[in-house]
Amino acid sequence: MKVAVLGAAGGIGQALSLLLKTQLPAGSELSLYDVAPVVPGVAVDLSHIPTDVKIAGFGKDDLAAALVGSDVVLIPAGVPRKPGMDRSDLFNMNAGIVKNLVEAIADNCPDACVGIITNPVNTTVAIAAEVLKAKGVYNKHKLFGVTTLDVIRSEAFIAELRGLNPANIDVPVIGGHSGTTILPLLSQVKGVSFSDDEIKSLTHRIQNAGTEVVEAKAGGGSATLSMGQAAARFCLSLVKALNGEHVTEYAYVEGDGSDAQFFAQAVRLGQQGIEEILPYGELSAFEQQCKAEMLDGLKGDIQKGIDFVKG
Ligand code: NAD
Ligand code: LMR
Repeated sequence: MKVAVLGAAGGIGQALSLLLKTQLPAGSELSLYDVAPVVPGVAVDLSHIPTDVKIAGFGKDDLAAALVGSDVVLIPAGVPRKPGMDRSDLFNMNAGIVKNLVEAIADNCPDACVGIITNPVNTTVAIAAEVLKAKGVYNKHKLFGVTTLDVIRSEAFIAELRGLNPANIDVPVIGGHSGTTILPLLSQVKGVSFSDDEIKSLTHRIQNAGTEVVEAKAGGGSATLSMGQAAARFCLSLVKALNGEHVTEYAYVEGDGSDAQFFAQAVRLGQQGIEEILPYGELSAFEQQCKAEMLDGLKGDIQKGIDFVKG
């Protein structure tokens, strides 16, 4: 397996690359690309960790070399939020970055599974899909918006609230990756029940968890370490699946379009990427209302990405 990380010198990129260097299966290759001149140094630094994962760093003129032969490409390249900003405020800076990187993926490793981390994810995934379509290589089974952070946060917050081991908690999180489009299905968490007030406050905390970190970092960026862990979990599941195991994860993907063209939901992963999109089951009245209220916003975010590429 070859995994490429684009934006590898950043806050997420470095944390993610460290976790992949230590956790990818023996014999894997890790390719680190960034426009920041420090990226060869990040690769040298990680290469001193004695694991059987080959590592190489690529600077701004070597994107093609970084990508050739990749099975999985993860994109955390781009600008993070500062306090007072919404994820959609990043569109002007990040849309073009994602477009250019995905064009290079289409040219150099068109069969790779692509995980988009760069915000606004609701929109950048639509940009990626349109770029791949324009290049004639779009495979909806292999394009993912990485929403794993919403899932791990939900696990952490519920465990904290109830004094439980987070390892035993699974939380479905559907929708998108911004504000109210993030919809945790607390009614489906097994072995835990919540009062109506707890459901409202937990849902609000999960939807605003990114902002909680942005404000706590006070201008120093957004979540990097928890996101590194989330992206590593997603990538390692994907690698397992490509190697023949069946694994389920939540991700923002193109499904049947019954809610929106792209929608975060559970996906069964296999050797060809997404093998099956799993139904999210019955929603509580509260969850149904939350979904109904956010869908127009999510569809607008998606359309913005389509329009950006189609001009
Ligand atoms: P960062 O500023 O620490 O790192 C970004 C890196 O991208 C930098 O090293 C920069 O040099 C690099 N970069 C910029 N343009 C590039 C290009 N054209 N090609 C390659 N690399 C390029 O930012 P960060 O904290 O790592 O966040 C990165 C992105 O991830 C942001 O957009 C942020 O909003 C997003 N994010 C998403 C989630 C999620 O759940 N999906 C979570 C946290 C952050
Ligand atoms: C997050 O959820 O932490 C990320 O999307 C970063 C952000 O801007 O909140």
